[in-house]
Amino acid sequence: MHRLYTRSPIAKIMWGILSSLVGIIVLLMVLVSENPRMEAQTINWEGRSIENGAKMYADNCVICHGPDGQGILGRGPGLNSYYFFTDTGRLRDVGWVGSLEDYVLLTISAGRPSKVESQWPEVMPTWDGKFGGPMRGDQVVDLAKFVMNWEESALAQTPEEDPFQPFEDVIKPMEFQNTAHILLSEEEQAAALEEYRARNIRSPQEIWTGEACFACHNLEERQVDLYGQNGPNFADLYERAGIRVEGMTAEEYVYESIVNPTAYTVETYEQAGQMPQNFAEKLSEDEIRALVDWLLNPDREQ
Ligand code: HEC
Ligand code: HEC
Repeated sequence: MHRLYTRSPIAKIMWGILSSLVGIIVLLMVLVSENPRMEAQTINWEGRSIENGAKMYADNCVICHGPDGQGILGRGPGLNSYYFFTDTGRLRDVGWVGSLEDYVLLTISAGRPSKVESQWPEVMPTWDGKFGGPMRGDQVVDLAKFVMNWEESALAQTPEEDPFQPFEDVIKPMEFQNTAHILLSEEEQAAALEEYRARNIRSPQEIWTGEACFACHNLEERQVDLYGQNGPNFADLYERAGIRVEGMTAEEYVYESIVNPTAYTVETYEQAGQMPQNFAEKLSEDEIRALVDWLLNPDREQ
């Protein structure tokens, strides 16, 4: 009977070489067919990620950065912008050495802290849950991919078409100056803001931390002197709010204290006048009402 097994060393070597060759050829064939498959898969993933990003952009970013990323005068800078995408533009001016994608990702994730007397009346909010925002990390990544997807259209703009608004802290070079951005009327801006707020109602707890009420007020009595707080303690607010001002119910009094803090100043705090005066603009009616109920509820959850 013919035997496959042979004792001849030459034949063994030949067998070895042959089987290695077959192995290599099979491997090459797999690689050749796998590459386009993987590429197609990656493009597919990227596409879905950008699509998700587009939806979230429409829901959360349009009111400040405009429907096509052109920015809105006085609300948010343009992102679909030559100056923003070009190497010698925005990144060089802010001195960022990383990639634009990382810059976008970080800005969306953490937001930008408000600057006193900033040119922007509202700050760039924080979006990633890691930094106290409302989104998951993968959603922020999708948003960044969506913004980065403007690269091609942005780089095709002439300097005159570029909608980027100059930042006051970083002077945008003359060749990029352009004031022909889209401009919403005041009513349109107010309506957009209203709509945005209606969709983003914050809980009293979120306002308490987000608007830094805690920096001046304590919710529990035992904390009274812990941080040297400079506003009244709220452990017993429900007991005294109704008797602070004659003719005002507890709800009316707390409501007014938030929207119009100077209407009545608590004794011994007269010299302070520190309570911020703009909560009526920063909080929606629904948010203020819920906040009042929460502050007056002795069993409130923190
Ligand atoms: C309430 C208005 C507002 C909303 C909503 C908003 N932004 Fe912003 N955004 C700003 C402002 C204002 C700045 C500039 C902040 C600064 O540097 O002082 C900014 C800056 C940015 C920047 C950096 C621009 C630069 O040149 O440095 C990116 C990127 C950005 N926003 C993306 C987004 C995305 C994505 C969303 C939606 C998830 C969003 N923003 C929602 C107001 C807003
Ligand atoms: C920078 C400090 C500061 C911050 C921040 C602050 N407050 Fe005040 N608040 C004060 C001071 C000081 C008073 C007392 C003087 C007065 O009546 O205006 C006060 C008074 C009040 C009163 C009336 C209390 C009483 O005993 O009669 C209420 C209610 C109130 N604040 C709610 C809030 C809420 C809600 C927030 C956050 C949305 C907030 N405050 C943020 C400083 C602050």
